[in-house]
Amino acid sequence: MKKNIDSKSPFERLPASVFSSSEAAAIRVAREIADLIRERQEQGLKVVLGLATGSTPVPVYREWIRMHREEGFSFANVVSFNLDEYYPLSRTHRESYWRFMQDQLFAHIDIPEEQVHVPNGEVGRDKAFEDCQEYEQRIADAGGIDIQILGIGRTGHIGFNEPGSGIDSRTRLVTLDELTRRDAARDFLGENNVPRYAITMGVGTIMEARKILLLAWGRAKAGVIRKALEEAPTDHIPASYLQSHPNAEFVLDEAAASLLTRYTEPWRVGFVDWTPELVRRAVLGLCQKVDKPILKLVDKDYNEHGLADLLTVKGSAYQLNIHIFNVLQHTITGWPGGKPDADDSARPERAQPAQKRVLILASEPQEDILGLGGTIRRLCDQGHEVTIAYATSGDLAVPDQEAKAALELLQDLGDLGGGLDAGSIQEQIKDLGKKDILDFDSETVRVVKAAIREGEARQSARQLGLSQKILRFLRMPFYRKGHYRRFRLEEEDFAMLQQLLQELKPHQIFVSGSHDDPSSVSGLTFRALREAFARCSESEEWPQHTYVWMYRGSGEEWPVDRIDMAVPLSPGELNRKVIAALQHRSQHSQSPNALLEQSESWQRTEHLNRRTAELYDRLGMAEYEAIECFVRWRS
Ligand code: F6R
Repeated sequence: MKKNIDSKSPFERLPASVFSSSEAAAIRVAREIADLIRERQEQGLKVVLGLATGSTPVPVYREWIRMHREEGFSFANVVSFNLDEYYPLSRTHRESYWRFMQDQLFAHIDIPEEQVHVPNGEVGRDKAFEDCQEYEQRIADAGGIDIQILGIGRTGHIGFNEPGSGIDSRTRLVTLDELTRRDAARDFLGENNVPRYAITMGVGTIMEARKILLLAWGRAKAGVIRKALEEAPTDHIPASYLQSHPNAEFVLDEAAASLLTRYTEPWRVGFVDWTPELVRRAVLGLCQKVDKPILKLVDKDYNEHGLADLLTVKGSAYQLNIHIFNVLQHTITGWPGGKPDADDSARPERAQPAQKRVLILASEPQEDILGLGGTIRRLCDQGHEVTIAYATSGDLAVPDQEAKAALELLQDLGDLGGGLDAGSIQEQIKDLGKKDILDFDSETVRVVKAAIREGEARQSARQLGLSQKILRFLRMPFYRKGHYRRFRLEEEDFAMLQQLLQELKPHQIFVSGSHDDPSSVSGLTFRALREAFARCSESEEWPQHTYVWMYRGSGEEWPVDRIDMAVPLSPGELNRKVIAALQHRSQHSQSPNALLEQSESWQRTEHLNRRTAELYDRLGMAEYEAIECFVRWRS
């Protein structure tokens, strides 16, 4: 039997290892480096590591901390050099990379303080050049970097070497790219607060490391990973320079690797076993390449686009076309909870039980409306027992001025809301006035912000015609206790979701985040659900009959070849969904969230829902106004 090629692809210009999860990938990296540390220890030698910040390396650092705590593993012979630091920024600033490294690694292991180096974001401008040269000298004096860990930005940057950086560049002061600043906006609570500059090791400095491991997780990185690995090196994508390094490797999770040719068009990489999924991907991909609906493809189209083998195996274009047309047609349903008393053999959902218990899990308010507002409405109208659970309140994304306005309103009303007396309301208002945007919120302000977002969720449900009784606000501990990029799931998170599942015993679960950055709120919510569901499956029978439907929720839609259920929306339904989304006022205009993208989230979603409908139309299906779509999760 022919096998799907999953290893060496001639399209990839560098070795790349793909792991089923970021956790597994991070453990492999952590252990590989630990092996070198141990080997050097045995020889009485030091090892020099180049370290990165950002969310990507955090699971590697966690594994090292675990090894240190549980196995007594020592880092006493490690000398470290960090890639970069924002400029100008004081070491003690809550978002400085120096502080990040203390919090995420150094404070928890036995690396001697004097062996740790992070570029200095506090140095005066006139001294910056000299300071950078000294940094280079220190690396050279330490004997050069043995292993360099890298993340990658969506611009293709490594360190803070943005597009345009030369292959020979050295440690220096640089200007940050707009996209990089936008990506950091959430950490700094707004793009305007992100420093404009940074000090970074140069590409040339990085390239001198004896070994380089570039790590990437999550779907958001998939596009740039494909460019860096499969296209000719260019200064537009600084990570592509690594192609000329003799010992560099990309370590990826499946989501970050998902746009590599070995996955998108594996038949171009080698012989494939034509599974139903691959056939569908090939045919729908071909339609988009030649811009034809499915039923108009002819043998010549297949032959000219490297799919002659598929024709040989499956007969003719005519047969293939009809088959895939039917497959796609069967994804469309106006009955997301299943159509009672109908033949369900070719439908995405089962007919029985006619009334299902449905759990919709949103990582924070608004995600549910954007991801499946139209579908929720249908499920309720069609008599299913729907529960919408919000994993977190989303209070971290509420701007201070919203909290202030709410407190002032309370004051004006003479209301003593939330157990606060008039004096303490006044105090909170005063504190908010003095607070720097980057200071952490007091507990009271977080409660106010949570109330704002949960209130918006209620208002949004009302607009959609839903009963308030179906809403649950979980306020999961990982979010209450953490902040962006530093959240951490704990036992109480799993237990909380497990309890909810055991109570509801849902026939259907809708959830997002499966392909998101594993450290994001949606990525963590998905992981918590997966673990809770697995635990229920071990001891109970009902999970065997549960269909888990994944919606996207991150300004992206599923690729058409993966869609298992497409729920069409009429113009009226789409309009109602947009009005419901608009109730999330705190997330519009001046909010830090909105600053992440040029257009607002509701606009992007409306556009995506319409675009999916247009795509179905172009492929030869009926012409709808908009479509919400789902992929069934098969564990
Ligand atoms: C951090 C660094 C950056 C990040 C990159 C990805 O020291 O040099 O290049 O690796 O911006 O950031 P995350 O990991 O947060 O996605």
